[in-house]
Amino acid sequence: MRAAGVREIGGPVEVLDLTEPAGPGPGEVVVEVAAAGVGNWDGIVGAGAWNVGLTPPMALGVEVAGTVVAVGANVTNLRPGDEVLGHPVPLRHQGCWAERVVVDADLVVHKPLGVPWETAAAFAVPALTAEQVLTEALGVAENETLLVHGAGGTTGGLAVQLAALRGVRVIATAGPSSAARVKEAGAAEVLDYHDGGWPDRVRELTGGAGVDAAVNAVSGGSAETVLVVRQGGRMATITGDPPAAERGISVADVYVRPDSTQLEELCLLLGDGRLTLSVGDVLPLAEAATALERAVSGAKGGPVVLRIAPERTGM
Ligand SMILES: NC(=O)c1ccc[n+]([C@@H]2O[C@H](COP(=O)([O-])OP(=O)(O)OC[C@H]3O[C@@H](n4cnc5c(N)ncnc54)[C@H](OP(=O)(O)O)[C@@H]3O)[C@@H](O)[C@H]2O)c1
Repeated sequence: MRAAGVREIGGPVEVLDLTEPAGPGPGEVVVEVAAAGVGNWDGIVGAGAWNVGLTPPMALGVEVAGTVVAVGANVTNLRPGDEVLGHPVPLRHQGCWAERVVVDADLVVHKPLGVPWETAAAFAVPALTAEQVLTEALGVAENETLLVHGAGGTTGGLAVQLAALRGVRVIATAGPSSAARVKEAGAAEVLDYHDGGWPDRVRELTGGAGVDAAVNAVSGGSAETVLVVRQGGRMATITGDPPAAERGISVADVYVRPDSTQLEELCLLLGDGRLTLSVGDVLPLAEAATALERAVSGAKGGPVVLRIAPERTGM
């Protein structure tokens, strides 16, 4: 089957001809992939710094959307023909940048009706990350004030929406081209991070005290994020750069984990429009290397997606 990934750890991304997955084992399903998400984390997998259960030559890709075509023993939640999405790590055979992938049936959920394949493919990792940051790492509550640093990005944008849905007052940083979208997502205030005075403005907006909680979604952005958290507040970063603890502030270094219960709830919100996600570039499997370069350089206008089965309509 056609796939895209690396022949060796640290090698370039290229189109691969890989063996078809064997029939699904107990608890597994085979998914015919319609589209797969691309994130800078796929480069981390290819470089060998995130073990998702594969050895080269290996297809990359940890986000899938597609149709179940075979069901293993003991699978009760899915049937052939079901349309699913998920973050099915650890992977069982190959990554999701492939025509077919074998996954743990408990790690994919039904795709909401009417959600396009591209959106479904790019949803699981950022949505789960945002949810886990807000509920598990920060435990944000209604009427608290939250800073989302990097709200113009995919994960930050979803964090703004999820926090606003919980009645949290969100102060966000974003560039001029994302500001309107971030405001629409529910941010009370959007500050341009190009203006070096944005941390002072956060303090002004919080009566000098700082925010109750903050999430950093900017590579290297934790050090300035922690400065605007109030004494004894909470902070989480998703970019692996936790700052030293200061002023009694708790710091969480968050890494996404698959969670189907959370993903089902997030899909309900996506399906009824309370959560939205606009996709950026959509490229064919043959252009996986370009897709990854674009994701690594900072996805503009939404997450990058590989379209793997172009004939699907996604309704
Ligand atoms: N730990 C985890 O499990 C996990 C999960 C998901 C993502 N991540 C990481 O989180 C980061 C964000 O990922 P993503 O996919 O959501 O990002 P993304 O969509 O690629 O975000 C890129 C956007 O961030 C904004 N940005 C860039 N520099 C900024 C700065 N200095 N200050 C504020 N905003 C800035 C820009 O938007 P505008 O200029 O348009 O505002 C840019 O378009 C990545 O490093 C990713 O690896 C980690």
